[in-house]
Amino acid sequence: MARKKVTIVGAGNVGATCAHWIVSKNLADVALVDVVEGLAQGKALDLMQSAPVMGFDVKVTGSTGYEATADSDVVVITAGVPRRKDPATGKYPSRDELVKTNQGIVGEVTRQVAKYSPNSILVVVSNPLDAMCHVAYHESGFPSERVIGQAGALDTARYKAFIAMELGVSVSDIHGIVLGGHGDTMVPLPRHTSVAGIPVRELMAEDRLQAIIQRTRNGGGEIVSLIGVSAWYAPAAGTVEMVEAILKDQKRVIPSAVLLKGQYGYNDLYIGVPTIIGANGVERIIEMALNEEEKAMLEISAKAVRDVVSILGY
Ligand code: LAC
Repeated sequence: MARKKVTIVGAGNVGATCAHWIVSKNLADVALVDVVEGLAQGKALDLMQSAPVMGFDVKVTGSTGYEATADSDVVVITAGVPRRKDPATGKYPSRDELVKTNQGIVGEVTRQVAKYSPNSILVVVSNPLDAMCHVAYHESGFPSERVIGQAGALDTARYKAFIAMELGVSVSDIHGIVLGGHGDTMVPLPRHTSVAGIPVRELMAEDRLQAIIQRTRNGGGEIVSLIGVSAWYAPAAGTVEMVEAILKDQKRVIPSAVLLKGQYGYNDLYIGVPTIIGANGVERIIEMALNEEEKAMLEISAKAVRDVVSILGY
């Protein structure tokens, strides 16, 4: 059986870390692409030189062009301008302020990868995430089952990590889910959060739980304010979780940004909901029974996403 192939567009922190973990897990050959001359080539070469020590047989190539990406099974799009401090004003742009700049970048990248890998599944990571999914969907012309956004995997990972830290238990025993857009209005669901099946509210006071929910919502921003630039380890981990689910046809249930067509009462909107991810990309969207409060929070998040999507002008 031929090896699987993954293209990663953007050899910055998130893209390079995705490449690192994909090869470390021996999942697939990787084609790393970046517009900056030498960046993808250099990081690919560096990773290849780690192979004898790390013990992987898959190959990594780096390029500025897209020929090397041909016939990829999965394409991860991390390209775009990250949230970086403006040296003039000392301020950080919000995710949403990046929308127009990144629409241009993600649009061009999508046209290129769709041309060279017309049967691939696109995993979008660029911000503002939900809006960039619309860009990739629009520009690729792919069915929506093959254009998925990575957000819930990351937001859920952060939520679980905070709960595990608070309770001093293994992260493996935390089950939980975060819905909605990848932004300050995301919707962590405490009613569906458990520790080895025990409802989290039996183990944690409500004020601590609410503090964790707030910290999860601000999870990206907290790291930006510490490092001065967007996070990459957890974003890459969430992305590789999805890539692995596709490559191995795992049918994992991962909250993902998917195009809703009536589910949860929304139409033509990318937003994070529980999704079965397998070889066909989105294999099924799971419609959870939400209570009124949860529906109201999802509505606030959907409105925030719609406001950004409307800037795209599709
Ligand atoms: C974050 C950025 C990458 O959440 O959106 O860390």
